[in-house]
Amino acid sequence: MKLTVSEGIVISPIKNGTVIDHITPGEGLTVIRILGIQDGTNVTFTVATNVASSQGGRKDLVKIENRELVKSEVDKIALIAPDAKISIIRNFNVVAKKSVEIPSDILGVIKCPNPNCITNTKEPAESRFTIHSRGFRCRYCDTIISREMDVGDYI
Ligand SMILES: Nc1ncnc2c1ncn2[C@@H]1O[C@H](COP(=O)(O)OP(=O)(O)OP(=O)(O)O)[C@@H](O)[C@H]1O
Ligand SMILES: [Mg+2]
Ligand SMILES: [Zn+2]
Repeated sequence: MKLTVSEGIVISPIKNGTVIDHITPGEGLTVIRILGIQDGTNVTFTVATNVASSQGGRKDLVKIENRELVKSEVDKIALIAPDAKISIIRNFNVVAKKSVEIPSDILGVIKCPNPNCITNTKEPAESRFTIHSRGFRCRYCDTIISREMDVGDYI
């Protein structure tokens, strides 16, 4: 089988699928969880964690065979890995590549950590967070999920 050497690690190329590169170090497995492919599925994927980036520093990298992403998945990935680049692979070639973008209004994605928030009651309102200088802020109760807290724990 043909192998490519990429940025110091050997990765087997995929014929068709998705590469998520430049993931914040340590968040590769969170990406897998967000995509719901961590267990009991027939999806083939590879996670590389804490690899050297050609652009300096470290990164995680995820390659998924025969799977493309929908917008809601890309929006979730943006929250935990704002520098991620998503490439679509078809017939071994990169046919499209895009950056992720954190939406200014984050609807229905983050679960508010405040148990008394209206978004966590019996007839919940859809959660709504916006970007705040310290992290993400709930528009209903003003709870802030700071960068130190890791927003991935609330997705
Ligand atoms: N057939 C393939 N199978 C698996 N991974 C691939 C394949 N082709 C490209 N990639 C990976 O997809 C990503 C984007 O490919 P590209 O050729 O644009 O790399 P790049 O120039 O290093 O991009 P960047 O500047 O974003 O790091 C890289 O991580 C590359 O290793
Ligand atoms: Mg590169
Ligand atoms: Zn709230």
